[in-house]
Amino acid sequence: MKAVRFDRYGPVEVLKVEDVPTPAPGPGQVLVRVRAAGINPGEVKIREGLLDSRWPATFPSGQGSDLAGVVEQAGPGAAGIPLDDEVIGWVDTRSSQAEYAVVEAANLTPKPAAVPWEVAGGLARHAGAIVIGLASEVNHAWLSAHGVIPVSYGDGVADRIRAVAPKADAFIDTYGGDYVELALDDLGVSPARVDTLVRFDAVGKYGVKAEGNAAGASAAVLRELAGLVAAGELEVPVAATYPLAQVREAYARLAAGHVCGKIVLLPRPTKTPGSSLTATRATADTSPDGAHSARRETH
Ligand SMILES: NC(=O)c1ccc[n+]([C@@H]2O[C@H](COP(=O)([O-])OP(=O)(O)OC[C@H]3O[C@@H](n4cnc5c(N)ncnc54)[C@H](OP(=O)(O)O)[C@@H]3O)[C@@H](O)[C@H]2O)c1
Repeated sequence: MKAVRFDRYGPVEVLKVEDVPTPAPGPGQVLVRVRAAGINPGEVKIREGLLDSRWPATFPSGQGSDLAGVVEQAGPGAAGIPLDDEVIGWVDTRSSQAEYAVVEAANLTPKPAAVPWEVAGGLARHAGAIVIGLASEVNHAWLSAHGVIPVSYGDGVADRIRAVAPKADAFIDTYGGDYVELALDDLGVSPARVDTLVRFDAVGKYGVKAEGNAAGASAAVLRELAGLVAAGELEVPVAATYPLAQVREAYARLAAGHVCGKIVLLPRPTKTPGSSLTATRATADTSPDGAHSARRETH
């Protein structure tokens, strides 16, 4: 099968799409034919070696956590998951950006038919609060249209936030810089209600949280979110999709920043009825059927 690999820390050029052995599912695991795999900013920092002390890579390294796909094979003890089921899930093994991935059965939930593949492969989080979003003016209309009150960042940001909400209950820092200090000192948010995705140093320093995406990582949460998407109550904007072979271009776009939505890789593995995985591998890149079905199912 084809899979994203890198052999050393470095820029986007270290990423390769290589032919590697298709993995076999162990106890409690299933093999998923991956139809969509999200890419995440944290993966950029890991690949560049910036998080080596916290989350080191072992080489050769695969990449990716979020995925959506079709159950190809069940390992011992995972027979409850029917073959050919369409599923959404994640791996903790940096391996979803591939044509096939071994996934813990407990990390999977059924994909509602109404949820397109590229949305399922990059599901985001839904919260029922009044939300203020700090963004540049060019994105204010987009935020308003998505139910978020836009506020410009830069000098005077604390005053502008207070003008909209005299008392903020919670602050999620998805950027870094000095937003943790802004939340604690200028807005008076208590440390337990501040969560930063970026400033890991602030946990020891101030007692804030740095829970990141792992905090909501359960099949039950995924099932609920997928249901909301299928019901039209939650939008997961997809900014761009790329074929697996263009993984470098996808990460270059992500690294440029200010992306409105998820960027998702779309492998195109083809299942040949009645044949072995070896036959599947041989046709994975070239089958016009695979290309057609990928196009049909992503709209
Ligand atoms: N720990 C985790 O689980 C986790 C998960 C995902 C991401 N992250 C981290 O989150 C960070 C953000 O990633 P990203 O891909 O979302 O970055 P990005 O594309 O550069 O987005 C930054 C966003 O913050 C807004 N923003 C608010 N204040 C800003 C300021 N002072 N300067 C510039 N932009 C500001 C930008 O608005 P405009 O676009 O309107 O300028 C933009 O929407 C990265 O450090 C990433 O590693 C961590």
